Amino acid sequence: MTVSQPVEVHLRSGEEGCRWAREQKAVAVVVDALRASATITCILQGRAAEVVVVKEVDEAYAFRDAFPGTLLVGERGGLKVDGFDFGNSPHEIRRADVRGKQVAFTSTTGAQRLVDCLGASAITVGTTINASAVARQVSAMALAEQVPIVIIPAGLATDPDVVAVEDWLGATVLAAHLGLPIHQASAQSYQKYQRLIQSAGLLDGFLQSSHGQKLVRLGFTDDIYMCAQVDLITDIVPTLTGVVPLPHGGQGVCLRRGTPEYATSL
Ligand code: MLT
Repeated sequence: MTVSQPVEVHLRSGEEGCRWAREQKAVAVVVDALRASATITCILQGRAAEVVVVKEVDEAYAFRDAFPGTLLVGERGGLKVDGFDFGNSPHEIRRADVRGKQVAFTSTTGAQRLVDCLGASAITVGTTINASAVARQVSAMALAEQVPIVIIPAGLATDPDVVAVEDWLGATVLAAHLGLPIHQASAQSYQKYQRLIQSAGLLDGFLQSSHGQKLVRLGFTDDIYMCAQVDLITDIVPTLTGVVPLPHGGQGVCLRRGTPEYATSL
């Protein structure tokens, strides 16, 4: 009989977090709190068939050329990309009809991190709005596989020196929901952002972050309010189900709603 060990939770940001997830064969949770994680979760809640995440805008166009009928969702500079159907806005997506559609998604950072996690034991998308569902699924996965969980605050792909406070806040909410031991190397950051949540509150933390302020300037305040609602969605954990070879080379990752046996036990 195998005796299962308690799994530990690590918080490691950006590229380094993705590399660590691959090397340790961890269960990875990518947190792009404003807004990619929420948008992808809302697309799947809207009953899209699947979300194919690609790094480049041109890859999304080529994917739609190869698979007509695909909806393109995503942003550059926070704004909807030319020729795309929707921007990276959970608020907008929740009002859209995506039922049964194949969706190709790209964003400045969240999409990059998801593809860069390829090689991890499992790849999921988490944030405040699906925190309990993610916690339940990834803890079961990590326990079954006896591997660590790494929560990855996505950061900013175009500037690795930026500390994305909003992603750390989202990652901290998720870590708290897991109720598992936080690895000592991550404990200091975890406590720091817990204190910030307790003093400022999640919504103010999001609004005051530099990316939050940019989104307010661009007119996406509604998205921030939505992204700050813990457990707004209780049954969707975007989960990697396969690697997608892209028409002109490269690869994307296919995400679906989550592992049914975990979802139904919510
Ligand atoms: C990203 O993936 O870089 C962000 O979600 C950007 C955004 O808020 O649109």
